[in-house]
Amino acid sequence: MFDIIIRNGTVATASDIFKADVAVLDGRIVQIGEGLADAARVIDAAGRLVVPGGIDSHVHLSQPSGNGIVMADDFESGTRSALFGGNTTILPFCLQEKGQSLREALRGYHALADGNCYTDVSFHLIVSDPSPTVLGQELPALVADGYPSFKVFMTYEGLRLNDAQILQTMDVARRTGALVMVHCENEDAIRYLIGQHEAAGDVAPKAHATTRPVVVEREATHRALSLAEVVDVPVVIVHVSNGAAIEEIRAARARGRKVIGETCPQYLTLTADSLEGMDWEGAKFVCSPPPRDEAEQANCWRGIETGVFDLFSSDHCPFRYDDSKGKLNPKGKTSFRHIPNGIPGVETRLPILFSEGVMKGRIDLSRFVALTATNHARIYGLETKGSIAVGMDADIAIWDPNITRTIRHADLHDGADYSPYEGINVTGWPTTVILGGKVMIQDGELLGQKGDGRYRSRSLSGLTRPSVS
Ligand code: URP
Ligand code: ZN
Ligand code: ZN
Repeated sequence: MFDIIIRNGTVATASDIFKADVAVLDGRIVQIGEGLADAARVIDAAGRLVVPGGIDSHVHLSQPSGNGIVMADDFESGTRSALFGGNTTILPFCLQEKGQSLREALRGYHALADGNCYTDVSFHLIVSDPSPTVLGQELPALVADGYPSFKVFMTYEGLRLNDAQILQTMDVARRTGALVMVHCENEDAIRYLIGQHEAAGDVAPKAHATTRPVVVEREATHRALSLAEVVDVPVVIVHVSNGAAIEEIRAARARGRKVIGETCPQYLTLTADSLEGMDWEGAKFVCSPPPRDEAEQANCWRGIETGVFDLFSSDHCPFRYDDSKGKLNPKGKTSFRHIPNGIPGVETRLPILFSEGVMKGRIDLSRFVALTATNHARIYGLETKGSIAVGMDADIAIWDPNITRTIRHADLHDGADYSPYEGINVTGWPTTVILGGKVMIQDGELLGQKGDGRYRSRSLSGLTRPSVS
């Protein structure tokens, strides 16, 4: 007797697409076959797609943002929104504040997450203060304890590391088998450009994009890849926005480097022109790197189609727009420099790629699964997730490929007050979502509860360890 049988659906994995029934018992997928019978619950998926629950490996929730700014999502609203968008696991960041120990930072994030999540979660660390204790003791111990990935920033005052610090952090990754993710933008070049724009009185949101041009991302990407080559570690280049950075990744791979590229919906659907909105509306689109232009959108699509990108993530980093603790904070209304960086998108990531990618014939369904679930699991060490296969966690999304919707923030479930994707028409939406064998959303209705999602410790990345032991 199974707990659930999903019958008559079209199952998609990163390698195959086939008609089959899927049986779930005790939270795991236990059989895949034809004519499976005998379950407490049968879900008829005829005409629908049965895919692994999405894994979004780039999400910010409840992250301290300074100057009275508060993120629009905590773990409850953020994971609920993720779930409605077809995700069953997300990887938010745990930010180390200056002078803080990583363990202390993690205690805070666990306290916020534990008992409050609708999806499973696991944490990446953000290293902002690579002191000798952090590098020598804390990081290696935390990698062993199931936190095997950390992000470093080349931009943002208070977060950026210099090259020496990046090299030292990468060296810890080389010794421990952890994976380093790099935010590539040259902070000094950005500051120079900000100074010029401010001196000219050009302080509207659009200047956010013009002070972070492609060249500052390209230079930093080249440098990050070079530093990883010096240390001889794999590296993840996150939220890539343009063709020049893509070429840097291609060139590094051609030199034999292990490089993972990540891009996000904003670089496929938005342009810098969005930042030009009247009445400071452009603030809604302020994120870093900024959206570029249509030619760069095409370059990012080519990166997806040709395998430069292994990861498609949301970089969900939500702030309310019309809010003194959000985009329109008192200083944010005076200059683009004070508008918090980041946009919401955890719920719309999958429908956008499905609609624009699969339904428009740019990628096939297996590549969609790889880009949105399987690769995230393999790259970030979630061994029992990211595929429809016997023994895997029963984290499953059932999609109706024929539903058409116009994205409206009023229909979404995050804590922001807008969506940067408002008005975009999509075809295909996840209607039923199963987490660890529990039906969390059925035909669009929430059945799960906060606390059903749990923290998941991770193994070393498939990139840094033998896959057979
Ligand atoms: O603007 C963005 N992307 N904010 C989130 C933080 C980051 O850099 O990923
Ligand atoms: Zn970043
Ligand atoms: Zn981010």
